Amino acid sequence: MLIRKNNVIVPEKILNGLQTDFMGQKIHYFTKVASTNDIAKKFAVKGAKEGTVIIAETQSRGKGRFGRRWASPKGGIYFSIILRPKVSPQDALKLTFMAAVAVAKAIKKMFILSAEVKWPNDVLINGKKVCGILTEMSTRDDVVDFVVVGIGINANVNVDLFPEDLRSAVTSLKEEMAEEVDLELFLRVLLEELEHYYMVFMRREFDIILKEWRSLTKLLGAYVEVVSFDEKFEGLAIDVDSSGALIVKLRDGTLKKVVSGDVTYRSNEQSFSY
Ligand code: BTN
Repeated sequence: MLIRKNNVIVPEKILNGLQTDFMGQKIHYFTKVASTNDIAKKFAVKGAKEGTVIIAETQSRGKGRFGRRWASPKGGIYFSIILRPKVSPQDALKLTFMAAVAVAKAIKKMFILSAEVKWPNDVLINGKKVCGILTEMSTRDDVVDFVVVGIGINANVNVDLFPEDLRSAVTSLKEEMAEEVDLELFLRVLLEELEHYYMVFMRREFDIILKEWRSLTKLLGAYVEVVSFDEKFEGLAIDVDSSGALIVKLRDGTLKKVVSGDVTYRSNEQSFSY
């Protein structure tokens, strides 16, 4: 009998009944690492198979976008998946959308919570961030060698453990459900969703993922502030195009294509970015 102790994830409990062909069929579990993405890259360089997962109980240097830190207290889910899609580096970046849709779908399936996605890599519940995704890749001659999709989910985490300046913008599954959630069961459902949407991606049907993404976001039609490279501007978020870029309509009617950056809702003056 496998007993949970102190929110420790037991890989055998994920594998038991996991209905995937390759996603998560090989799991490397660590109690503490600097960053699961960095460990995944090392495994990938050594030839680890597609779908291999690296999970850690905590991370001492969890990485967020733009070199930010990802707070990784115990009770959260921190994992990275190794993928080997035969696509261009440009297309591989779309895997962030694939993962965001899979996470939101898994949350909705398991908890009947209204998870939403926010451009480019966030999943929110009730407007607060519950998950972040960091996609990194290695290329050779402009061809993808491997991609590491790193997913951090505030699962059984007390929001009080987050740095004070983040607390109002962050939530956890435990907080939203008012009880601890079954980490392995959730991961199993999530890995199944990830395999499903990855296969859609590999069939070159990114339009299907985008359609799902649009149906899961409240961003389109909202007034937003964008910080992209050295620029800061406001406008109406119109759409996400086939490359994954956010299209924002400025006050003067000009359309701006945003390929990288942070987006904050302006309509209710609440900041969801961190
Ligand atoms: C973000 O929102 O800025 C992305 C956060 C991604 C965090 C996850 S946790 C697992 C994986 N390992 C890391 O070091 N980062 C990602």
